[in-house]
Amino acid sequence: MTYNLLKGKRGIIFGALDESSIAWKVAERAHAEGAIFTLSNVPVSIRIGKTNELGEKLNAKVIPADATSIQDIENLYTESVKELGGKIDFILHSIGMSLNVRKGKPYDDLDYEMMSKTLDISAISFHKILQIAKKMDIMNEWGSVVALSYIGAQRTMNGYNEMSQAKAMLESIARSFGYFYGKSHKVRVNTVSQSPTFTKASSNVAGFDGMYNYSDKMAPLGNSSGEDCADYCITLFSDLTKKVTMQNLFVDGGFSSMGMSMELMNTYGKCLESE
Ligand SMILES: NC(=O)c1ccc[n+]([C@@H]2O[C@H](COP(=O)([O-])OP(=O)(O)OC[C@H]3O[C@@H](n4cnc5c(N)ncnc54)[C@H](O)[C@@H]3O)[C@@H](O)[C@H]2O)c1
Repeated sequence: MTYNLLKGKRGIIFGALDESSIAWKVAERAHAEGAIFTLSNVPVSIRIGKTNELGEKLNAKVIPADATSIQDIENLYTESVKELGGKIDFILHSIGMSLNVRKGKPYDDLDYEMMSKTLDISAISFHKILQIAKKMDIMNEWGSVVALSYIGAQRTMNGYNEMSQAKAMLESIARSFGYFYGKSHKVRVNTVSQSPTFTKASSNVAGFDGMYNYSDKMAPLGNSSGEDCADYCITLFSDLTKKVTMQNLFVDGGFSSMGMSMELMNTYGKCLESE
């Protein structure tokens, strides 16, 4: 069902790589709700992924940008405002990459050069996207900027590694920048904390299947799918959430409030019996 929630709104969506990407689902949903937008991704991902295919399907121009490059972001904003015919109402930051995770480096043997690149790509890029948008004055009043996070920002999750620090910084940037952007332009800034989801990025996390199954069994409503996450992002881009800002908002089936579920207790009990 669609509700025309984004009719007349213009956006920029970062991070749609292929059909499994959360940004892909957000783009499809934003299109269905009446928005027009540009799609952006780092050039290598556009080459090996399917961003162009999505652009053709949704009639959205694809503009390459490395989200760590100030020049690329400036160019993306100039091109997007021109292409869409006016200022921007929403931005999705759906960008994450851990070099240490990719190289299989354990958390107690991190390479710090790689860690600083991870933080630049996965967290500081969010600050750059916000700071440049504010300086170039490309957002309409009551605009909305959302970045995707994970509960590993606040809890230790085996295998999540340095991404815990990246997500903690990402969530903190939403709180800090939300103050400045709210005051100056009435733009809201939030992070959405999503359940484990099978995508290209998550395929690099060691033991991801276990993380997925554990939280699915713990959450009373089960894991949030990419589509569920997209639905939630659409509400945050819409005018129905105008006074929601500087928050980290969970779309996780209730996982973040749980301690122990009956299902997991029974599974654990059976494991103990069989030992
Ligand atoms: N998949 C999960 O379990 C999960 C859970 C919670 C939050 N998230 C977050 O959701 C977001 C999207 O990830 P996804 O799971 O859809 O995976 P994905 O691999 O589909 O998306 C990650 C995107 O980041 C892009 N990217 C990497 N480096 C970039 C750069 N320098 N500049 C611009 N773009 C760059 C990639 O090209 C890719 O499109 C990430 O922030 C991720 O941490 C994912």
